[in-house]
Amino acid sequence: MLPDPVLVRAAAEMLNYSGSGMSVMEMSHRSKDFEAILNEAEADLRELMGIPDNYRVLFLQGGGCVQFAMVPMNLMQKQNSAGNPLGGADYIVSGQWSKKAAGEAGLFGRVNVIASSEEQNFSCVPDLSDLSVSPDADYVYLCQNETVHGTTIKTLPDTKGKPLVADVSSMFLSEPMDVSRYGLLFAGAQKNAGPAGVTVVIIRDDLIRENVLPATPTMMRYKTHADAHSLYNTPPCWGIYICGLVFKWLKEQGGLPAMRERNEKKAALLYDFLDNSKLFRGTVRKEDRSLMNVPFITGDKALDAKFVAEAEGAGLRNLKGHRSVGGMRASLYNAVPFEAVQTLVEFMAHFEKENA
Ligand SMILES: Cc1ncc(COP(=O)(O)O)c(C=O)c1O
Repeated sequence: MLPDPVLVRAAAEMLNYSGSGMSVMEMSHRSKDFEAILNEAEADLRELMGIPDNYRVLFLQGGGCVQFAMVPMNLMQKQNSAGNPLGGADYIVSGQWSKKAAGEAGLFGRVNVIASSEEQNFSCVPDLSDLSVSPDADYVYLCQNETVHGTTIKTLPDTKGKPLVADVSSMFLSEPMDVSRYGLLFAGAQKNAGPAGVTVVIIRDDLIRENVLPATPTMMRYKTHADAHSLYNTPPCWGIYICGLVFKWLKEQGGLPAMRERNEKKAALLYDFLDNSKLFRGTVRKEDRSLMNVPFITGDKALDAKFVAEAEGAGLRNLKGHRSVGGMRASLYNAVPFEAVQTLVEFMAHFEKENA
């Protein structure tokens, strides 16, 4: 969901952006108008997240999946004289997305899975209290909010001096984060920040390297985009513009602390209902539950399907769980209002009465 005021403003500016006589979709990415849109989006994001000066903000394309490759291509450092990687990276696997990222990184170098909750069907976050970080690891990777399985890593692990790389796609801008704890973090915009097509990368200066794995395409080097201020080639102009409007909306709402408060309230309403329900139950260990993605089941596949179909009929859309896990999943991203969660919970209570 995108906030209504953002869509209303985008609609009003659709044919004539700020007196330019054209839509942002029609602008040159080298124009003064677009340059201002890009600069303002970056400045607002920096302010919202408190991004330190030694970090660069990049607006890229290719989604989270391209980052699964760009991260190892740029950060796996040690090579032999033939250019083959000697180093590698440590991965924490806590759900589908970190598992995919670890698999992709394996195309480029040695990947060590140092913690995994796969045996628990990713229903919890693995123990991260004292990680055995490999001495030669170039970085430690995690996905902080697993969108499909609905887990969140609430306390960042001690990475023993190695840079922490985090996929924060599905919790981006949902709560304050201490950017200085990360070497690199990235997020596809399409959950909380804007339309699909923009990927935000926040990277510490010292990790923007000339020396990347051999044959890394120019477009896949962070340095290319950092040097060109995200204008190396034609960027996703429209998507960046909408992200900029969302950043302004977030500032008007009171920023990320206000978002966290709202998101906690929304999630608490649904989790409290699940904890007391005789029909539905959440699938994630309590202390690892995500504020953004709430998976739940009845324990009966046919009843799950009936629930999803009837909910759809009542105007409650997109409640079917990810195809890889089934059941149901409610995503409570920033723009989802508290009232929508109330409606969901009322509908679930009604369904429980009829079907328990
Ligand atoms: C946490 C997480 N990482 C990565 C991805 C993949 O992102 P994309 O579809 O932008 O490549 C997703 C997509 O849902 C996701 O939720």
